[in-house]
Amino acid sequence: MSHLKTENLSYVYGEGTPFKITALDNVNIDLEKGELVAIIGHTGSGKSTLVQHLNGLLKPTEGKIFLDDENIWESKSKVYDTRFRVGLCFQYPEYQLFESTVYKDIAFGPTNMGLNEKEIDERVRSAAKYVGIPDGMLAKSPFDLSGGEKRRVAIAGVISMEPEVLILDEPTSGLDPRGREQILGLIKNYREKTGKTVIIVSHSMDDVARFATKVIVMNDSRVENSGTVDEIFENSSRLSEIGLSVPQITEIFIRLKKMGYPVSEKVYTVEQGHSELMRLFAERGIV
Ligand SMILES: Nc1ncnc2c1ncn2[C@@H]1O[C@H](COP(=O)(O)OP(=O)(O)O)[C@@H](O)[C@H]1O
Ligand SMILES: [Mg+2]
Repeated sequence: MSHLKTENLSYVYGEGTPFKITALDNVNIDLEKGELVAIIGHTGSGKSTLVQHLNGLLKPTEGKIFLDDENIWESKSKVYDTRFRVGLCFQYPEYQLFESTVYKDIAFGPTNMGLNEKEIDERVRSAAKYVGIPDGMLAKSPFDLSGGEKRRVAIAGVISMEPEVLILDEPTSGLDPRGREQILGLIKNYREKTGKTVIIVSHSMDDVARFATKVIVMNDSRVENSGTVDEIFENSSRLSEIGLSVPQITEIFIRLKKMGYPVSEKVYTVEQGHSELMRLFAERGIV
């Protein structure tokens, strides 16, 4: 069943001005409940504009968005509801954090949902715990935190609304490898634990290959392709034409193949690479 869908969605920034930019051009996507969707595409391809439509933050210039088969722009109350049901973590956490304390920032969503103080407090503490923000940090100003901590507070602020769909726009950009692993682990665990739909905009093909159940490729304001990790990464030459790449491990296997080794090029994760090499070694009596 369709959970979240766009129908002929187009969006123009600065309509009616000389600076008009078509950021989305007839975009159709259809996501099912519980999927972990990765959106990839070169900078400026329209990814952030697309995800800001999915929670009703931007209003389509043309086309429609459906959540559980209902048009989110059908009425004011529907679009208001959508902002709580579909939680969006911005590309830059600085855009999302503006309160004087971490506690207030995480409480912002639940407060707007009209929950009572006790419920809000429970939501804030459990979301903070979930993302690994210790109690002692709740009274701090969000601006005194490290990049990775800010990111986690921003995620906690969205999770505290318990949205049906969680969207994260480049949640690991600017983080060191350890910070990245923490955030990715958190997101994966969230989806496995809650069964909720998760959408991640990502620049890292290695990460996408590891976690996505579905990949959407954006190119020049349009959806270029969508499918499973295997379907998307098997066409490496098309991906490089549109400014993207395949995972690093895939590049290694493509090279090995060119060098004459009888390996598969359809290797997208380090684990797959390991078993492919083991197969080759066993075949040659090396192990
Ligand atoms: N607030 C804005 N005003 C005008 N143009 C914008 C704005 N935000 C994005 N754009 C333009 O829209 C296009 C798509 O941008 P964006 O959705 O941010 O892409 P991505 O997230 O894939 O990098 C780009 O050409 C970008 O310059
Ligand atoms: Mg973006």
